[in-house]
Amino acid sequence: MYLTKDEERLLESENETVRKCMEILVAEGEANEAKRLIEVKSAHISGVSYDNIGDGGLEWLENLDAELKVPATLNPAGMDLERWREMGIDEEFYEKQMRVLKVFERLGVKMTLTCTPYYLLKPEFGDHLAWAESSAIVYANSIIGARTNRESGPSAIAAAIIGKIPYYGMHIKENRAPTIVVKVRGDLAAAGYEAGKVLRDEVPYFIFDRSVPEEELKLLGAALAATGNTVMFHAEGITPEWKDFDVPEEKMEVEGRIEGGCEPDLVTVGCPHASPKELETILSLLRGRKVKREFWVFTAREVVRKNQDLVKKLEELGVKVFSDTCMVVSPATSKFECVMVNSGKALHYLPKNRKVNVRFGDLKSCVETAVS
Ligand code: F3S
Repeated sequence: MYLTKDEERLLESENETVRKCMEILVAEGEANEAKRLIEVKSAHISGVSYDNIGDGGLEWLENLDAELKVPATLNPAGMDLERWREMGIDEEFYEKQMRVLKVFERLGVKMTLTCTPYYLLKPEFGDHLAWAESSAIVYANSIIGARTNRESGPSAIAAAIIGKIPYYGMHIKENRAPTIVVKVRGDLAAAGYEAGKVLRDEVPYFIFDRSVPEEELKLLGAALAATGNTVMFHAEGITPEWKDFDVPEEKMEVEGRIEGGCEPDLVTVGCPHASPKELETILSLLRGRKVKREFWVFTAREVVRKNQDLVKKLEELGVKVFSDTCMVVSPATSKFECVMVNSGKALHYLPKNRKVNVRFGDLKSCVETAVS
């Protein structure tokens, strides 16, 4: 990979963190046959929950010492920073998690603690990004038309510190062309869950049989990236680059329908983190009824701050609106037997990460189950 004189100097930097970050980027570039580095507008860092990274990750992070070149945002941690006791998080976990967060704060990373950074700091069409968080990556590429590969936590940190990322994959226009037409019926999160297993790293071109709101596209993308390796899709007539390429000849159909499952003792919504519009929808679906089961909704703290009335109304009906974390990355959900979700991503990861049984339903049936 070609490096400029300045980039070569960073490889020899006296600052060990800068040197390591350049080494990470060069290794990634060479593994993917990138010809050069490219400047990025922002980085989004995953691998924040102490539950995921453990003591090894914490030690690696605590040794980092450098300034950021571009704004960086942070994925959810393992607990709500204010209501962690209520979630059932113990002191030891709290302390370790706070040590992780202290590192990011010291580095100058924005403490967004959300997987939907695009609700807070929306990239523009064509921006090159270094994002690690599979659901946000699909959203950025597909729905915004920004460009990012599927970065890891360390490569996103390296990009934030160097301000660049290797130029390959989704950064290059021709690699963004669709490779297969997929006709979709039914629930989109369920369809994404099923389609991801088959599509792996294809770039699907979706055709829907109805009009589809952005929130459903978000759930579709998150599910595709969880069961497969999808980094981008096009949706006919909807997403910004759908007209830019020839329509592929290969075709398949998928129906999003998952039925049955266990009797939930916890209902969760907000994977990816809920938007203000989703919070409003939950409130209107509740129609003033109080919940009779544990009902946890996850969203960004900034979204809570800007929608305090809405959150208050939900809380008055017994809904717990948690921030900074989610049902998958927090150990708090492990104590339940059966968790209900409206997310294909949570459906995929909860049994593996939290060892719980899972029931799937759309947002409406999640709310109905919570009040029943
Ligand atoms: Fe976000 Fe957690 Fe789902 S990080 S996409 S809510 S698994």
